[in-house]
Amino acid sequence: MSSATLTKYLLFPYRQPDKSALNRYLKNKTILITGASYGIGEAVVEMLADSPVKLILVARTAEMLQQIQQRLTSHSADCHIFPCDLTNEQQCTELLHQLQQHGNIDIFINNAGKSICRPLMDSLDRLHDFQRTIRLNYLAPVQICLSLIPQLQKSQGQIINVSALNVLLAPTPYWAAYQASKTAFDQWLRCAEPELRLAKITVSSIYFPLVKTRMIAPVYADKPVPALSTEQAAEIICRALLTRKPCIRPWWALFAQVASVIFHRLWAGCCRYYLKRKSDE
Ligand SMILES: NC(=O)c1ccc[n+]([C@@H]2O[C@H](COP(=O)([O-])OP(=O)(O)OC[C@H]3O[C@@H](n4cnc5c(N)ncnc54)[C@H](OP(=O)(O)O)[C@@H]3O)[C@@H](O)[C@H]2O)c1
Repeated sequence: MSSATLTKYLLFPYRQPDKSALNRYLKNKTILITGASYGIGEAVVEMLADSPVKLILVARTAEMLQQIQQRLTSHSADCHIFPCDLTNEQQCTELLHQLQQHGNIDIFINNAGKSICRPLMDSLDRLHDFQRTIRLNYLAPVQICLSLIPQLQKSQGQIINVSALNVLLAPTPYWAAYQASKTAFDQWLRCAEPELRLAKITVSSIYFPLVKTRMIAPVYADKPVPALSTEQAAEIICRALLTRKPCIRPWWALFAQVASVIFHRLWAGCCRYYLKRKSDE
């Protein structure tokens, strides 16, 4: 058994999505996937390629979206691409306007994201780091949800939020821009969930541990950390489409959350010790 498979069994011991049940469920549905050009989003698109579904793919890199659309031409999924920089409010507004003309959307997979790992002292002249993460990881999905809610209500649809496990745990130095912005949308969605449920819209938040994508490469490239593959992450998202579970996280996350609360002082002390050692090097 490969280490990736073992990691999956330990971290996410879920069954694979039932392909035929998934195809039956998705028949004639339209799914909007943001961040579809690379990583987890691209893997979800590949996994849905043979489903009878309309896929609306959004990301900045038009060439990548075109390549994916090209690859899907001989498959069942009907693929439409919309290059858009979601950090740009105007572009996001135009995208939503175009989507309104495009027919009803049944499922929104909020996956586009940016992470930044940078010491605070290197960020003093970098307000834009906080602006672009809050725009992409928080404000853009809020803007998309606000626009799609009437459509999702009509189709008793779904919102799937690709979140990060760190959102549930004690804060980590260097990750302020990323964690604050991911947590902001997580909180927004949790506050909105009861109202969305009343409107018959299901919300699923998936709290992923590390997934092997270009996102983690700058920090973890030379470290042998356990991480899910993009295919494993895509399977978990596809299963969430079927199960409609509200919260999907590793089985051990609850223990980590409890430890985060009980040992928060110890954790803060360890962080300070680590930072001090690093600055003394
Ligand atoms: N990798 C992990 O360990 C991990 C763990 C937990 C959660 N997540 C979450 O998983 C999601 C996907 O991340 P990933 O690991 O697959 O990273 P990735 O490979 O870097 O993919 C990020 C996706 O977001 C798109 N994107 C980035 N900036 C954008 C912008 N301004 N406008 C529109 N689209 C934009 C990217 O496309 P373009 O560059 O073409 O725009 C790309 O398709 C993120 O929400 C991330 O927070 C990742």
